[in-house]
Amino acid sequence: MDFFSLLFLLATFSSHFLHCSPSPILQAALDNSTHAYYNCTRNSTSATYNTYRSNIKTLLDLLSSESSNNARFYNSTAVGDNNVNTVYGLFLCVRDIDPKICQTCVIEAAKLITSLCTTAKEAIVWYSVCYVRYSDNSFFSIVEKTPELSFMNDKDYVGQAGRFNNILWDMLNDLRNAAANSSAKLADKSANLTENQKLYASAWCLPYLSAENCSWCLTDAIAEVPTSCCRGKSGGSILYPSCGVRFELYPFNKISDSISWVPPSPTSPRSLAPSGKQKTITIFEIIVPIIVLLVLLVLGYCCFLYRKERKSRHDILKESFGNDITTLESLQFEFPQIEVATDRFAAENRIGKGGFGEVYKGILSDGQEIAVKRLTRSSGQGAVEFKNEVQVIAKLQHRNLVRLLGFCLEDEEKILIYEYVPNKSLDYFLFDPQKRKLLSWSQRQKIIKGIARGILYLHEDSRLKIIHRDLKPSNVLLDSNMNPKISDFGMARIVSIDQIEESTCTIVGTYGYISPEYAMHGYFSVKSDVYSFGIMVLEIISGKRKGCCAESECIDDIRRYAWTKWAKQTPLELMDSGIEGTYSQEEVIKYIHIGLLCVQEDPDERPTMATIAFYLNSSSINLPIPLEPPYFKRSGNEENMAPNKELDNTRDSNNGMTMTQFFPR
Ligand SMILES: *[C@@H]1O[C@H](CO)[C@@H](O)[C@H](O)[C@H]1NC(C)=O
Ligand SMILES: *[C@@H]1O[C@H](CO)[C@@H](O)[C@H](O)[C@H]1NC(C)=O
Ligand SMILES: *[C@@H]1O[C@H](CO)[C@@H](O)[C@H](O)[C@H]1NC(C)=O
Ligand SMILES: *[C@@H]1O[C@H](CO)[C@@H](O)[C@H](O)[C@H]1NC(C)=O
Ligand SMILES: *[C@@H]1O[C@H](CO)[C@@H](O)[C@H](O)[C@H]1NC(C)=O
Ligand SMILES: *[C@@H]1O[C@H](CO)[C@@H](O)[C@H](O)[C@H]1NC(C)=O
Ligand SMILES: *[C@@H]1O[C@H](CO)[C@@H](O)[C@H](O)[C@H]1NC(C)=O
Repeated sequence: MDFFSLLFLLATFSSHFLHCSPSPILQAALDNSTHAYYNCTRNSTSATYNTYRSNIKTLLDLLSSESSNNARFYNSTAVGDNNVNTVYGLFLCVRDIDPKICQTCVIEAAKLITSLCTTAKEAIVWYSVCYVRYSDNSFFSIVEKTPELSFMNDKDYVGQAGRFNNILWDMLNDLRNAAANSSAKLADKSANLTENQKLYASAWCLPYLSAENCSWCLTDAIAEVPTSCCRGKSGGSILYPSCGVRFELYPFNKISDSISWVPPSPTSPRSLAPSGKQKTITIFEIIVPIIVLLVLLVLGYCCFLYRKERKSRHDILKESFGNDITTLESLQFEFPQIEVATDRFAAENRIGKGGFGEVYKGILSDGQEIAVKRLTRSSGQGAVEFKNEVQVIAKLQHRNLVRLLGFCLEDEEKILIYEYVPNKSLDYFLFDPQKRKLLSWSQRQKIIKGIARGILYLHEDSRLKIIHRDLKPSNVLLDSNMNPKISDFGMARIVSIDQIEESTCTIVGTYGYISPEYAMHGYFSVKSDVYSFGIMVLEIISGKRKGCCAESECIDDIRRYAWTKWAKQTPLELMDSGIEGTYSQEEVIKYIHIGLLCVQEDPDERPTMATIAFYLNSSSINLPIPLEPPYFKRSGNEENMAPNKELDNTRDSNNGMTMTQFFPR
C-alpha cells in the first residue's frame, strides 16, 4: 500500500467518523447557532407530506452520492407520481476546495437538513464552504435572495476605516464582475491594506445563473455589506440562496481554513442568534478538530493530485452553463399584434410623449400590460443594427430599470416594447404640491437608493457600459410599491449615433439636469450621469424643481440654493417642509451632502456611482467636503420647461446654449 492510499484511507475513515451519528461538534454548535445555519420554511401538516418526504430523501441521497464525483455543484429533481410532490434540490460548494472536503460538507449538510427540517416543504442548510437546499418550487435559474443570512466577524477593524472601506468596496465590485464573467461563477481576490496586512474576499453565484443575473444578485449582496452585516467589522458574509460574498483579514479561501468546513469565524446569524450564550468546550470539540486537522493536512498533500480533475470539472461546468442568448425571435413583435394591443395607437392609450417618440399603453393577447414607444426619428439606422442594439439593451435587466421586452419593425416604423410600470413618473409625484405629501422620507430614501442602484448597474454592468445622458425625474418611473425604475436608457445606441451627435448641438438631455461640461462642450462621461443624479437627489429632498421661475415653489438654481443652505450650516432648511412622519436629521444631511458632491463643477471631483452606492449604504463614514458651485445666472426668464418636456424640443428654441452663462467668482 503506497503512501497516498494510506492517506486516503485515513481521510475516508475520519470523515466516516465525523458523520456517524449526530456529530457532537456540529450539534453543539448548531444548538448554539454559531456554526451552521438552517431555515426550514412552510411547514406542512398535509397527509401527503410523507410521500413528499420520501422524495426529499431520494433527492438528498442522490445529492450526497453525486458529491463523491468531484462535483462542486449538482442540481436534481425527484419527480413524484403524477407530477405531484416533486422536490427540487441542489448542493453547491462555494469555494474551489478539495473535492473531498466538499463531499464531506455536502453529506453532513444533507443529514442535518433531514434531521432538522422534518415538516418543511422548503429548506436550506449553510456551512461555510457548502450549502444544500430543496424546495417544492422549481427554483433553478431564478435569482433567490431569501432566506438571507448575514454573518459578521465579531472583531472590529482597527486601522484606517476609510481606506479599508474603499479597498473593500473596490474589491467586491471587481469580484462581482469576475464571478459573473467566469464559467464557474466564482472569484476570489486579495489586496494590501497595509504593508503587512492583506484583505481577502470572495464572491460566488450558482453556476447556472446568467452573467447578468449573477451580477444583479451580487450587486444586492454587496450593497448589504455595510448595512446589514459588517459595518466597521474586519470580516463578514452575506449569503443568499443564489449568490454570496465574504471577506476576512485572513486567507479563508486557502486550504488551511477550508479544513474547518464547520464555519470558523461567523457568529451571530441574524435570524437565529440566541446571542450571548457561551459554548463550553467538550471533549469532542478537542478531539474532532485534531482529527480533522490531520486529515486535512493529508488532503493538502493530496491536493495537487486533484488539480487536473478539477480543471476538467470546470470545462464541464462551462459546457452546461455557457452563455445564454436572448434570441432575436423572442424579442420580435408583429405590427398587427401591437396594433391590437394599443387599439391602433388610440389617443386614449397614449400615456406620454418622450424625446424619442410617443408612448402608448397596450395589453397583449395573453393579458400582459406593455408600454409601446413609437420612435419618431426612425431613419438613420438600418434594420440589422437596430435589431442588434435592441438585443443588447434587452439584456440589461435590473429591478431598477424598466425592462425592454422587444421591438417591432414595419417599413419605416420602429417600435420599442417595454414592461408597463403602473405608477407615473417621479416628477408627477414630486412636483405636485398634493401628491408630494405622499412621499415620506423613507420612500424618498428608497427612491434615491433605487435610482443609484439602477445607474450603477448601467455604468458597471459586466458587459456594457451605458451612460444614460438624460437622467431626470420624468425618466424615473415608479412601480406599485413606489420602487423606482429608470427608463430610456441605451437610447443612444438604439437611435443611431449620428442623430445623437446632431442633437448634441442643441443639447441632448434635459436642460438643468445636464452637467456643465456636457452643456457647454458636449463632453459626456459617467460623471455626467452622476451630475444629473445629484440634481435629482437635491430635488427629491427639497421637493423643489430646478429653474422654472414662474412658479413660487421653484428656485433659479438648485445647486446654489442647496449650497447656500449648506454653507450657512442650515442644510435642513433645504428639506421639503411637507414631509410627514419621522426621519433622522443625520440621514437627511448625509443625502444632501452626497447630492452636493455629485453636482460639483469638475467632473473629476464627483464620486463614481459605486462610491455613491457605498456612501448611501454606510452610516458612519467621513464624506469629502463638497466644493462650491460657480455662480450661475440665467439671462432671461423665457425658459419655461415643464419637467417632462423633452430636450429635443429645444431644437425649436434658438437660444439653446446662449441662455446659460457662467460667471467665475
Ligand atoms: C438543473 O438546472 C438546470 C438549469 O436551470 C435545469 O435546466 C435542469 O433541468 C436542472 N436539472 C435537473 C435534473 O433538474
Ligand atoms: C418548522 O418545523 C421545524 C421543526 O421541524 C421548526 O424548527 C421550524 O421553526 C418550523 N418553521 C415554521 C416556519 O414553523
Ligand atoms: C434572471 O432572473 C430572473 C428572475 O429570477 C428570471 O426570471 C430570468 O429567467 C433569469 N434570466 C436568465 C437569463 O437566466
Ligand atoms: C426563513 O426564511 C424566511 C423567508 O424565506 C424568512 O421569512 C424567515 O424569517 C426565515 N427564518 C429564519 C429562522 O431565519
Ligand atoms: C502587496 O504586498 C506584498 C508584500 O508586502 C508585495 O509583494 C506586493 O507587491 C504588494 N501588492 C501590491 C498590489 O501592492
Ligand atoms: C450550547 O452550548 C452549551 C455549551 O456547550 C451546551 O451546554 C448547550 O447544550 C448548547 N445548546 C444550547 C441550546 O444552549
Ligand atoms: C468582465 O466584466 C468586466 C466589467 O464589466 C468587463 O470589462 C470584462 O471585459 C469582462 N471580462 C470578460 C473576460 O468577459
